[in-house]
Amino acid sequence: MLPWQNGDVTAYQEFAPFYDAVNGEPAERSRQILDYIARFRPASTSVLELGCGTGAVLAGLGSGLALTGLDLSSEMLAYAKRRCPSARLYEADMTTFVQPEQFDVVLCVFDTLNHVTTLEGWLATFERVHAHLVVGGLFIFDVNTLGRLRHLGDSAPWVHHFDQHTLIMNVEFDGHCLAQWEIRIFEQLHERHFVLHHERITELGIPLERLKNALASDFELLMETDPEGKTPSDESSRAYFVFRRRA
Ligand SMILES: C[S@@+](CC[C@H](N)C(=O)[O-])C[C@H]1O[C@@H](n2cnc3c(N)ncnc32)[C@H](O)[C@@H]1O
Repeated sequence: MLPWQNGDVTAYQEFAPFYDAVNGEPAERSRQILDYIARFRPASTSVLELGCGTGAVLAGLGSGLALTGLDLSSEMLAYAKRRCPSARLYEADMTTFVQPEQFDVVLCVFDTLNHVTTLEGWLATFERVHAHLVVGGLFIFDVNTLGRLRHLGDSAPWVHHFDQHTLIMNVEFDGHCLAQWEIRIFEQLHERHFVLHHERITELGIPLERLKNALASDFELLMETDPEGKTPSDESSRAYFVFRRRA
């Protein structure tokens, strides 16, 4: 295991069967990505998603683009294969992956980048993105901000009932930059028979200025926003970015 990988390489093994039911349909997120592509690189023909999970976002991009996804979790990829059969899918680490081609667009969405738990890992990912984007290609991603991770750490556990199951999620923030997500799913098999699935996921937050400085030499910033359409800050709940690969 590389030093920046999530501590538990089996992360998402337990969560995978419930992931789409817990997170709902990401149709709006796919539509937003298509809008960015139409605005900044309308002639795009190929997309690579880093940390594609169950393939829900890729599936929402439609049939007009050649779709490729990679993920560290074979369990998540098994769902992606069913959900997005037209996509080429690979089990790989986004900090080290090598593909034989370059893409018009690279995506890394729904706080997937935060799953890489050191700054060196983020820098290695940016280097891989640069190597796999055509000149002028788009890097579209979002991050959980430090403020959001701190806020989640201060909040009561989130209890969510879905289908006949219950999810309890508790986030502990280390006061600096790392948040530990404890996810427990009580799967109800029969009326009084439950199976507990436990998952632990670590996320790293990085100041947005640090993030933008790290990208500045290889990428041009085209767009940044928070969920309300304002310039994102470290106190925003999430930050969305579109960068263009420089020559
Ligand atoms: C929050 S999920 C997002 C999935 C998908 N992008 C979506 O929007 O639904 C994060 C995904 O990133 C994957 N992941 C975490 N670290 C990774 C890494 N170093 N390389 C590749 N995938 C990784 C996890 O296995 C998981 O499927």
